[in-house]
Amino acid sequence: MSASPVHLGVLVSGRGSNLEALLSAERAGAFDRARIVCVFSDAPEARGLDVARNFRVAAYAFRPRDYPSKADYEKAVISILESHAVEYLMLAGYMRIVGAALLARYPLRILNIHPSLLPSFPGLHAQRQALEHGARFSGCTVHFADAGVDAGPIIAQRVVPVLPGDTEDTLSARILEQEHQLFTEAVKLVTERPWEIHGRTVMFS
Ligand code: GRF
Repeated sequence: MSASPVHLGVLVSGRGSNLEALLSAERAGAFDRARIVCVFSDAPEARGLDVARNFRVAAYAFRPRDYPSKADYEKAVISILESHAVEYLMLAGYMRIVGAALLARYPLRILNIHPSLLPSFPGLHAQRQALEHGARFSGCTVHFADAGVDAGPIIAQRVVPVLPGDTEDTLSARILEQEHQLFTEAVKLVTERPWEIHGRTVMFS
């Protein structure tokens, strides 16, 4: 680990398997600079919070409905993130559209993972969309979040075949296996390599 770790915060809503993969990678020494310092969920019952606690990482839950507006809710999240000096936010199965307050505080510093080869099949049920479309290949994408849905500049992708007889469950499992590796790869790219954006393309030196 270098003298100046880059602090990451992770937002989850559910199972937290991507969070678990990131924390396991960190503990295995995969990151030269990145350190996961806090985990936040919009759902207090999310398994992802238990994953964080098992790894002894600070875990927080806020319910958006307890706040008068999305902006107020996001301001509360930001104050937690700032208290941990978070520089990059990872959306690991965070089932909400990121609002203007978070985007303004972390421009090009929010990474989302999505279970398709974007720009194909954005939004919910990406694996089902790929099957219903008859795609031969799908995959997963890590991209910077922007005001669109699964729309920001792409950081890294992996291709996964759609096999005859696949169901939503079998395809999702095959993609998830790749997601777990891809998110780690993306964290390493943005925290260990200088990068800049040309148009929509993220260029790594
Ligand atoms: C993953 O498939 C991710 O791509 C999508 O939501 C799912 C979250 O799974 N955004 P987990 O909570 O990381 O297990």
